[in-house]
Amino acid sequence: MKYLLHTYGCQMNVRDAESVAACLEAAGHLPAINEADADLIIVNTCSVRDKAEDKAVGKLGLLCAGKRTAPQRLVGVMGCMAQRRGAALLKRLPQLDFVLGTRQQRALPVILFRLAAGEHGIVQLDDPGVAPRVPDAHLSGSISAFVTVLLGCNRRCAYCVVPDVRGAEYSRPAKDILEEVHSLAASGTREVTLLGQSVMNYGRSNPVWDSATPSPGGFREDLPRLLEAVSAIPGVRRIRFTSGHPTGCTDEVVRAMREIPHVCPHLHLPVQSGSDRVLGLMRRGYTAAQYLDAVARLRSAMSDFTLTSDVIVGFPTETEDDFEATRRLMEAAAFDNTFIFKYSPRPNTPAAAMKDDVPTAEKMRRNQVLLEDQDLLGQRLNEACVGRTLDVLAEGVSLRNTQRWSGRSPGNKIVIFKHEPPIVAGDLVSVQITSAKPQALYGEVGLQAPDDRGQNKCTTP
Ligand code: 5AD
Ligand code: SF4
Repeated sequence: MKYLLHTYGCQMNVRDAESVAACLEAAGHLPAINEADADLIIVNTCSVRDKAEDKAVGKLGLLCAGKRTAPQRLVGVMGCMAQRRGAALLKRLPQLDFVLGTRQQRALPVILFRLAAGEHGIVQLDDPGVAPRVPDAHLSGSISAFVTVLLGCNRRCAYCVVPDVRGAEYSRPAKDILEEVHSLAASGTREVTLLGQSVMNYGRSNPVWDSATPSPGGFREDLPRLLEAVSAIPGVRRIRFTSGHPTGCTDEVVRAMREIPHVCPHLHLPVQSGSDRVLGLMRRGYTAAQYLDAVARLRSAMSDFTLTSDVIVGFPTETEDDFEATRRLMEAAAFDNTFIFKYSPRPNTPAAAMKDDVPTAEKMRRNQVLLEDQDLLGQRLNEACVGRTLDVLAEGVSLRNTQRWSGRSPGNKIVIFKHEPPIVAGDLVSVQITSAKPQALYGEVGLQAPDDRGQNKCTTP
């Protein structure tokens, strides 16, 4: 069969989609070029906001309607909304062939056999009593790969649906992760991003090491030890981990970022609000001052540290003063980029019991104000890079301008660059930055950057 995946949502979903694609290809199926060409279409869904679910349901409706002209085509749904709504999706969309839960990607080949044998409307959701089946298959050939290290989430942020749809935390054994990274590096991957909803909790849910495994750097916490072991794998040139939580920025994590070769000086550290009152209602477990303290410790450890974040506007009871506190925090923390979300009540979350009392128009206004603030801030921070030379991991031809290449700096900034000598994806190149926009840097390749293996750290943003 030829398959097509439509993915909404976060990096975790992107990773799940890749593992499904790899499972399908291992079973002999091939990627389709478009919907008309596909025998199997899967919508990989997100539940984080109402709108994300509406979009996916709309897409599934169109795909199910398309079965009138292509009755053989299979249409399935996976991801967070599939897990949250389960069999109820079949009531709304009876033509759906299957509904696959968030930890069930590896069941897909068997489901396809069952569909071929005449079954219809198969629902396979997570069973909390069964050990999770970790997505570990990869498509070959990517320079940059996501590796899931922590499944689920044990925090109970008041607004968030994730603990319901992705289950309790489960940390993968370090040995399995290291084997996965070894084989990725051997097939050409140069950058790995270790994924977990709250990745700094790695190893806190269950043991992950064989007891005798030593740490050359004397690290005792599990995430630093994992970063150290990944860094020692030949071929790995860059290591990232996401998403962070301010309370997880321990002195060891900060030291690991500073000292372990290849760990990039960038964190995505969602703050959500700058108001202590709202942070309390959100049950985030820190104050604005504690967040800024974590940022200060990271910045003093790494001169070129870059920081990105998530902010929610219009959480129940958020006042103008609360909102202004968020604006001040964004400025004080100097975010290189911020993802801004309008609060959306999610069923069964603690915040769903509160009145969604910030009017939509006001949420939109606050959203717009923060977007404009962030644009100015991003422009200012990026302009400070003009004239500098950054190590850029070349990813491929720029989608917007095929005369240019695109890559990322150690600080995860997008760099669009011109080059004379031929390069291939995966090269580390030195790019002299000549201009800046809020979301990207522009420049030209000078000399090839030396392999940074063994050198102390990447030292450019
Ligand atoms: N409403 C709006 N934004 C939300 N997020 C999570 N839940 C909600 C919600 N109910 C945002 C948070 C999180 C990001 C992935 O999505 O900012 O960090
Ligand atoms: Fe990712 Fe959360 Fe959306 Fe699920 S609900 S795809 S975990 S952002």
